[in-house]
Amino acid sequence: MSMNRKQYRILVVEDSASLRDGIVATLRKEGYTVGAADDGQTGLKKAQSEPWNLIITDIKMPRLDGIQLFKTIKAKFPEIDVIIITAYATVDIAVDAIKHGAEDFITKPFPLAELRSKVNELYNRWQSQQQAALKPTDGKQLIGNSRAIQQIRSLIQKVADSTSPVLITGDSGTGKELIAHAIHDSGQRQNQPFIAVNCGALTESLLESELFGHEKGAFTGAVRTHTGKLEQASGGTLFLDEIGDMPMSLQIKLLRALQTKQFQRVGGEKYIHSDFRLISATNQNLEESVKEQTFRSDLYYRINVIPIHVPPLSKRPEDIPLLIDHILRQRAKKLNRSMPRIQTSVLRKLQAYSWPGNVRELENFIERALVFIEDNIFTEELFSFDKKPENQAADQPLPNRDMAEYISKIEREMIISALKENHGVKQRAADQLNIKPGTLYYKMEKYGIEEHEYET
Ligand SMILES: Nc1ncnc2c1ncn2[C@@H]1O[C@H](COP(=O)(O)OP(=O)(O)OP(=O)(O)O)[C@@H](O)[C@H]1O
Ligand SMILES: [Mg+2]
Repeated sequence: MSMNRKQYRILVVEDSASLRDGIVATLRKEGYTVGAADDGQTGLKKAQSEPWNLIITDIKMPRLDGIQLFKTIKAKFPEIDVIIITAYATVDIAVDAIKHGAEDFITKPFPLAELRSKVNELYNRWQSQQQAALKPTDGKQLIGNSRAIQQIRSLIQKVADSTSPVLITGDSGTGKELIAHAIHDSGQRQNQPFIAVNCGALTESLLESELFGHEKGAFTGAVRTHTGKLEQASGGTLFLDEIGDMPMSLQIKLLRALQTKQFQRVGGEKYIHSDFRLISATNQNLEESVKEQTFRSDLYYRINVIPIHVPPLSKRPEDIPLLIDHILRQRAKKLNRSMPRIQTSVLRKLQAYSWPGNVRELENFIERALVFIEDNIFTEELFSFDKKPENQAADQPLPNRDMAEYISKIEREMIISALKENHGVKQRAADQLNIKPGTLYYKMEKYGIEEHEYET
């Protein structure tokens, strides 16, 4: 998809008709889509009812001034760029505007060419962001430089175009689903459907009709014919997640379907042909399951033609900094804020941690840390890894293995004890904890800390 200037929508809010018309005409001539409003109130209405990429606003206007207009816009739509133009420029206003996220500030009178080149700059920036966002792998990249991940990456490329069944194994949160998507997206089937079924999430009979479909009237409640996932996946990929949880009765039915490439809907007579590429995933040890006779050995051999094993994160600590960087970059982009920095000592501790929940746990952990971050830098205080509350015996085991939850618990206790020590004076409690009062209020609310908990 190519981007062009017509797609870039600019709203001009300016009460002086001659200046407004001049700006609109100049920008339209450049090829942009331009709308206009002649006071702040009308501007705000327009800004909220139609999509815009850039708003150019005057400050002094009847009804609603430009600063208020732009603060409201930025709060609601942080992705919209704003350029402020005014004759009454003071350093204060300019600083305030930039602090609140205005992209630029122009003082009147100015040559239209100056505005034009600023707009073109913003457009170019927008255009390259759009193009980056359109890359098919964006956000779904398999990150990591460990041998294991490098091998998996090259395996994905090798097997993407074949139709042999793939079985992805690995602990929870190691990226099995991500790999399944990557195989699909790298192959010739990328524009065909990717159909996922979680075999562990449904009862036996629901799973059966989910997979194979059912005819109208096949059972009570089957009011219309339903095409199953095997059928929907024809031409594309069928992803059977948690295949280790599939009941024995369905395993034989699936095996038949894989052997003959055809099957019947529940309650149906006719044979339906479907040609899909099968990718399965499990966090169970299927060889064990075969020994224990909870998984059919013939099905196991059929689905396990190309095995891909993803080792736990603790076995590839060199991937951790890359993953952290990737996750932070994604979140920063999503929240439209600058990339947080991270102290080296913190990074080392994160690398040393065992991450039982693997990459998912790491993602959740960073997500929460971003809530507590101050000055956009991850410090040891933020994590307090090896700090245990004083009343806890050093050799006592951690209460659970969820790191984020554990840290919240510690934070809550620290806040209550600081409030107690400072007789409920929040400013002093905040000082003692070395956090901003605003952060203290936020956390007190977040953790539901009530007065009776710290009143002495
Ligand atoms: N190597 C990686 N690079 C980037 N992101 C990853 C990587 N591995 C995992 N993730 C991310 O971690 C999260 C968990 O991954 P995913 O859902 O694929 O795990 P899973 O192995 O299917 O887990 P489960 O067994 O619990 O279903 C996802 O958000 C995924 O995008
Ligand atoms: Mg999964």
